[in-house]
Amino acid sequence: MVELTLPRNSKIKQDGKSYRTEKTGEDAALRTVKIYRYDPDTGENPRVDSYEVDTKGISMVLDLLIKIKSELDPTVAFRRSCREGVCGSCAFNINGKNGLACTTGLDELGRGDINIYPLPHMPVVKDLVTDLTKFYEQHASIQPFLQADDIPEEEHLQSQEDREELDGLYECILCASCSTACPSYWWNGNKEGGAEDEEYLGPAALLQAHRWIKDSRDDRTDERLAQLDDTFKLYRCHTIMNCVQVCPKGLNPAKAISEIKAMLVARRGERVA
Ligand code: SF4
Ligand code: FES
Repeated sequence: MVELTLPRNSKIKQDGKSYRTEKTGEDAALRTVKIYRYDPDTGENPRVDSYEVDTKGISMVLDLLIKIKSELDPTVAFRRSCREGVCGSCAFNINGKNGLACTTGLDELGRGDINIYPLPHMPVVKDLVTDLTKFYEQHASIQPFLQADDIPEEEHLQSQEDREELDGLYECILCASCSTACPSYWWNGNKEGGAEDEEYLGPAALLQAHRWIKDSRDDRTDERLAQLDDTFKLYRCHTIMNCVQVCPKGLNPAKAISEIKAMLVARRGERVA
């Protein structure tokens, strides 16, 4: 059932604070960055703080956030680690689109204000830090590891062709940009208190499910497909395609989901025959 009322304490207050860089050179490139702020310890509703900051010499959104935290406001909370688009921890909603702060250039964001919000529809721990517990549980539910009946003594080899089948699947960094951009995931997944068997797994978990289904060394293909043959887990994908628009690694979860659906049709045909 779609929830039409906002969760308690989620409405953004209009009294955000403003900060500005005091000392700037003549060649300063000032921009205003608006950041979603929420501190559970205060019990107050979230607000949006405004930072006027010199962007001279800064090319990436993550560097901008680090500058704001270092020079203007050390209380801003956000996750980051690798700074190279590898760890997946710096995914936020940047100017209305999910993506990685460390690989999003300021030149991609036009000339106006830069708005940075947490990933949509996720419980917020603090500021830009979201609670990804459910997201990781969904990933774990597809059993993202090799399950082979015969384990060789040495390397478990694949042909070059079998290995290439995994291209476009194994590169996922679990940043959650795709799942949290998906309206069906908002409405049918991650439901607090919802029944576990009525949950859409979302594009990221399903892309990974497909990665293991396609692995020539894995012997649980049929069990993996049977687990996904479910009205909620898989079939709540309505091909909205937001996942494809936002994936920072250029992956195509929607295609992976449609291929799982095709495999399920073939599987049912085989069972009837
Ligand atoms: S498929 Fe892309 S957007 Fe989704 S979690 Fe993986 S890397 Fe992130
Ligand atoms: S900091 Fe690792 S992906 Fe951005």
